[in-house]
Amino acid sequence: MANQLLAGKRGVIFGALDDQSIAWKVAEKCAEEGATIVLSNAPVAFRFGEIQKLAEKLNVEAIPADATEVADLENLFSKSMELMGGKLDFVLHSIGMSLNVRKKKEYTDLNYEWMHKTFDISAISFHKVMQTLWKMDAMNDWGSILALTYIAAQRTFPDYNEMAESKALLESFARSFGYHFGTHKHVRVNTLSQSPTMTTAGQGIKGFQEFFDYADKMSPLGNASSEACADYCVVMFSDLTRMVTMQNLFHDGGFSNMGMNPAVIGL
Ligand SMILES: NC(=O)c1ccc[n+]([C@@H]2O[C@H](COP(=O)([O-])OP(=O)(O)OC[C@H]3O[C@@H](n4cnc5c(N)ncnc54)[C@H](O)[C@@H]3O)[C@@H](O)[C@H]2O)c1
Repeated sequence: MANQLLAGKRGVIFGALDDQSIAWKVAEKCAEEGATIVLSNAPVAFRFGEIQKLAEKLNVEAIPADATEVADLENLFSKSMELMGGKLDFVLHSIGMSLNVRKKKEYTDLNYEWMHKTFDISAISFHKVMQTLWKMDAMNDWGSILALTYIAAQRTFPDYNEMAESKALLESFARSFGYHFGTHKHVRVNTLSQSPTMTTAGQGIKGFQEFFDYADKMSPLGNASSEACADYCVVMFSDLTRMVTMQNLFHDGGFSNMGMNPAVIGL
């Protein structure tokens, strides 16, 4: 049901690892809606993931970039503008990884070197993406920059571990850079807070299946799928949301405003 909402727009989409990735679905929908895109991911994801398959399917370029390395980002954005023939209209940051979660460290016994790396990959990379775009003057006026986040930034979900602080930092970067991008270039910056979703990053969290089921029951509309998330991203990249900026937008079937749902306790 494509409406060509993104016809004539150019975007860079970070984070498609395999066909479960949220960014994978976003890339497919953006292409369906008429956008020209470039895909990117960490070099290691090019070796172990399936991003090249997506690039072939959509007939687009995929350019490796470690989002913690400014030189990689500069190379990515300059090549992207060259390939697509102009500045960018939208960018999706769909990047997250926690070393302490991966290495099964409990929140009360964290390794701080890993924590720094986690913050760099999952949050500071968003600032690096925006600062690089800013310095290169790579965004078109009225463009849209979006990052994916999770409600553990506001509420405590113990097994989300240090990713909670990563997301709080990520959301704060959206507000702070949203001011600068808004006043100088009319570019909007937002975060989209998504339901638990069955992906590589999601399933790395302890007890994820049980938590996924709980959130599904708690939410009046159920958990939002990655396809529905992709639809919302398309709208956020389209001209229909030009005045929305510096917001954390919940896309969670109503979970964030629930207190108690009788379905959860079997009433
Ligand atoms: N899955 C969920 O339950 C859920 C819920 C809310 C928000 N999110 C967020 O959505 C985003 C996408 O995650 P996903 O669930 O699609 O999982 P995913 O594992 O498919 O995507 C995470 C991506 O981050 C990339 N990445 C890791 N280190 C990188 C680096 N240094 N440079 C560039 N890329 C790097 C990975 O290669 C991968 O493609 C993340 O920010 C995640 O926190 C996920």
